[in-house]
Amino acid sequence: MTTTVDEDRYQLLDGLLADTRLDAAAARRPLRPAPAHLLTVSDQGPVIALPDPAPPRAELDDVLADRVAVRDYAPTPLTTAEVSAICAAADLMDVEAWPREQQAGLGLELYLAAWRVDGVDTGLYRYLPEQRALRRVADLPSGAEAAELVMQEEFAEAAALLLITGNLAGAIDRHGSHGHRLLLTRGGAAGHAAWLAALRLRLVGTVFAGLLPHVLRERAGADGYHRAPLLAFAAGRAAADATA
Ligand SMILES: Cc1cc2nc3c(=O)[nH]c(=O)nc-3n(C[C@H](O)[C@H](O)[C@H](O)COP(=O)(O)O)c2cc1C
Repeated sequence: MTTTVDEDRYQLLDGLLADTRLDAAAARRPLRPAPAHLLTVSDQGPVIALPDPAPPRAELDDVLADRVAVRDYAPTPLTTAEVSAICAAADLMDVEAWPREQQAGLGLELYLAAWRVDGVDTGLYRYLPEQRALRRVADLPSGAEAAELVMQEEFAEAAALLLITGNLAGAIDRHGSHGHRLLLTRGGAAGHAAWLAALRLRLVGTVFAGLLPHVLRERAGADGYHRAPLLAFAAGRAAADATA
């Protein structure tokens, strides 16, 4: 019995030692390329400059009372100026409310799933706040196939989704378990800032859970820890407002 246990231990140690010798390990188990979803997001995609944010068309006081979650959208596209305003509002909320998190390199990352935005091809983009631009990150299906990206298919009919992600690993390292709560608060604040900006443009939408986890994992390296999806905002024009 003792002998068997010792032999098992030696085999285990032998295996561990062999794993430290790269050539030997490769000979036993050929090295494979890392799967795409574990790589960092491509920063090679083309960049689309956004115009200045569209100025508000209504006072917050005049639209806030009618704020309601809307999940039914007109086919009319958004303009890039409207998208610019929505992204900037979410970004500014985090930058202004949590400047020390930005200084620590832990700013939120914002992505845009664009289906109907004038002058922007359907796809997944990362918002680049310093450049006021979108960097293309990945393709996205459109039409009926887009419904496979979300739990509730009505959200695949929005003109665009703002997807808010944060660095959970970094937040926990910095703040302990409070980092998780803080990150959720920041995601909520950014999502609602985007919503209020949309309302003031007389657009509609709602915050919601976002794309299915595998979608951002495969396309944007969102492993749920170093880049964790936090919240999303679905934006569009009201279905009864198709001529806007
Ligand atoms: C953190 C969070 C996650 C949400 N996720 C979803 C969701 O996945 N699907 C959805 O239809 N609504 C979602 N909602 C939106 C709420 O359902 C919505 O705010 C609620 O229906 C209340 O509607 P009202 O804001 O118009 O009163 C979410 C809201 C929050 C705050």
